[in-house]
Amino acid sequence: MTTKQPLALRAGMVGMGMIFDETYRPFFEKAHHTGLHDRRFGDVDVPLAAVATRTGSRAEKYRDGAGERIHCFQSFAGDDAVDRMLHGGIDFACVATPDDRHFEASKKVLMAGKHLLVEKPSVLKLQELDELVALAQAKGVLAKVVYHKLLDPDHKKLRTFVHDGVFQHINNGYCSLLEPKQISGAQFSEWITGRNPGTYVAVHYIKLIDFTFGGRLKSVVAGGQRGIIGPKDGPTWDSVQMKMTYEYDYGREAAFDIHTSWVTPDNFPGYVEQEVQFRFDNGVWNAHSRKRGIECTVEGKTPYDIKITMNTHYNGTFVEPWGERSQRGYGIEVIDRFVRELAHVEFGGPAEERGDRLQEMRELAYNDLEADRQTVAAVQALEAILEYAAKGEPDCVVRVNEDKGGLVLYRPGKPEPVVLYSPRV
Ligand SMILES: NC(=O)c1ccc[n+]([C@@H]2O[C@H](COP(=O)([O-])OP(=O)(O)OC[C@H]3O[C@@H](n4cnc5c(N)ncnc54)[C@H](O)[C@@H]3O)[C@@H](O)[C@H]2O)c1
Repeated sequence: MTTKQPLALRAGMVGMGMIFDETYRPFFEKAHHTGLHDRRFGDVDVPLAAVATRTGSRAEKYRDGAGERIHCFQSFAGDDAVDRMLHGGIDFACVATPDDRHFEASKKVLMAGKHLLVEKPSVLKLQELDELVALAQAKGVLAKVVYHKLLDPDHKKLRTFVHDGVFQHINNGYCSLLEPKQISGAQFSEWITGRNPGTYVAVHYIKLIDFTFGGRLKSVVAGGQRGIIGPKDGPTWDSVQMKMTYEYDYGREAAFDIHTSWVTPDNFPGYVEQEVQFRFDNGVWNAHSRKRGIECTVEGKTPYDIKITMNTHYNGTFVEPWGERSQRGYGIEVIDRFVRELAHVEFGGPAEERGDRLQEMRELAYNDLEADRQTVAAVQALEAILEYAAKGEPDCVVRVNEDKGGLVLYRPGKPEPVVLYSPRV
């Protein structure tokens, strides 16, 4: 009698901060117990095999406390942690480091020939995106990014209406996402200097708009406020407002405003408050994270230990009707979905057809790095506009795909523009 070796996809994790705890941890804990199963690829083990963090302290504390809940992973810390983790026999790695440290780690993952899942925003520059996409192609691996709001059922319904032609031509819209002060003041204090809430959260809506409505990005303008987290004339932003203009194949345009903040008072009921409104030729779509959901008060507990308006669609801990304790939501589903795509590539059919399956999964525009071009372009434009504003040159505008280049920044009163990216976006 022969015992069949179970199939396995061994995971690496770079960065174990807030988002690890909210989404990756519950995914890996569940996978540790139940594995991953699908008729296309069978039964696959997904152990969290190794992690790389700055100091290792949070990782080791979690591993020791979690016991049987998680695979006994190796923990690497320090400057060469990612390199050592990549030598530890993993098949894919998730990168959840601060926004401006995604590229370096992602490049190492792909150079080592491992599949990549990186947190949003994938990278901050198109030059970096080009490098990662070329590496993934050369190494024959997947390179994907997490935009979990695309899996929010409300956003899926919006896209379904657009896809099915229920809504006709988008004219304009606004999105707003407000984070509490504790995010900028405590959670991100190690890396907040020089950063802004636009790149961190507006990117969710940049992607939602880009993916849902299609079209060509034409221009980006942006501004913001300073003075709470850092000096009023420094490089660290409290809140950011940006506007993107798009053009569609039939020649009409649309404009979108995205407002973000990470200095809203900690006790405001929205906690992470999200709102969108999109206006079409024949309709209006309004969505509000609080209006669809819960308002809960518990004496002595809300809003700090328990949120007043918790988003159970994103992530909730439950006692299921059948007695089991669970943690689920679209924040976790998006990671599960990536691992299923990967399992399909590696185990979903004969080895000689792996290339076809890889190509099939690369064509999924919702998460492939190659399809992230306009989103990264908008982020690169936003970062450059804020950088010039912090240097005393506010009100710049970035135009996309014109004679001078793919991404071109214009400064008021200065005749010569700055080319941020030469090739077409
Ligand atoms: N999908 C979402 O909605 C969502 C929500 C929150 C954060 N994020 C994204 O996840 C990323 C991390 O955010 P977070 O909230 O977990 O931040 P965090 O500050 O809580 O954690 C960052 C982690 O990265 C580690 N780290 C920092 N520099 C490193 C390096 N050079 N090498 C290895 N590890 C390093 C730190 O040790 C820490 O474990 C960001 O890109 C953020 O945009 C996404």
